[in-house]
Amino acid sequence: MTRIFALTNHKGGVGKSTSATNIALGIVGILRNANAPNPRVLLIDTDSQAHATLVTTGRNDYGTDDSLYTVLMADRQTASQVLANCIVTSKWDENLHVLPASPLLEQAERELQGTAGAPYRLADPLAKIAPHYAAVVIDTRPSFSLMTEMALISSTDAIVPVEPRYLETVGLLSVIGKINEIREGWRIQNLRVSGLLVTKMDKRVRGHRHLLNELRGHPMLGKLLIGVIPMNEAVSYAHRSHRSIFAYDPKASASKAYAQLVGRLVKHLGGVQ
Ligand SMILES: Nc1ncnc2c1ncn2[C@@H]1O[C@H](COP(=O)(O)OP(=O)(O)OP(=O)(O)O)[C@@H](O)[C@H]1O
Ligand SMILES: [Mg+2]
Repeated sequence: MTRIFALTNHKGGVGKSTSATNIALGIVGILRNANAPNPRVLLIDTDSQAHATLVTTGRNDYGTDDSLYTVLMADRQTASQVLANCIVTSKWDENLHVLPASPLLEQAERELQGTAGAPYRLADPLAKIAPHYAAVVIDTRPSFSLMTEMALISSTDAIVPVEPRYLETVGLLSVIGKINEIREGWRIQNLRVSGLLVTKMDKRVRGHRHLLNELRGHPMLGKLLIGVIPMNEAVSYAHRSHRSIFAYDPKASASKAYAQLVGRLVKHLGGVQ
């Protein structure tokens, strides 16, 4: 079964899009280096801000006919074909494909609110397309809205990026609780919280070190820690020039940390063919 990773946290600006885009490209790179027969990865952008779409495709003007919005509005019978038709090749790599977001997604959420089967409008068509990919990575918006619910229902692995300043146990437990609620509520057996990813870590800041140590020592949360990405201005520069951190500066500390994380995801989570 193709693993589907959702990067999610209701807090804004914690590195969801940065992580989703670089993890997706990183998986392509590892698989290509390993001569995997299928190194293709699909990145799905479910955030109407379309940041992941913009950096990876150079555009953020996808709409009624060529985006995730089109898929959500499609007839059940044709939705998977519509999804396949809306996928574009990224500018980052020919094996990194993107299902673009659209500003219209907010409208879609309003329109679909209360519609029977609405939360499955991404999961159902994706189930037919995902097997063509080695992995799928989903970027989500900073809220547990219907759109994020759709993303999580589609996923096998929720990864929660979190900045050190939000590392308080109570906040993290509430994010995990929310994801578990979605799993129980919709009986999504395959979905699990498979990692906490600390982002924008500044070792010079005592408070950051203290919170990270506390997290490491926590009996449940400590085991979920899958990576620590340092605060690194190369990330902002890469973002602004619409490049991956790996292409912008492979030697940057964030590049190395993302490469390490991706290696761990591919190895420990298995399932990536
Ligand atoms: N490790 C890092 N070091 C420095 N800056 C970073 C790092 N990770 C992310 N950023 C910067 O922080 C900002 C927010 O990152 P990003 O867009 O990935 O967060 P997000 O969680 O997707 O935000 P939103 O909730 O708005 O979707 C961006 O300007 C990005 O360049
Ligand atoms: Mg984002």
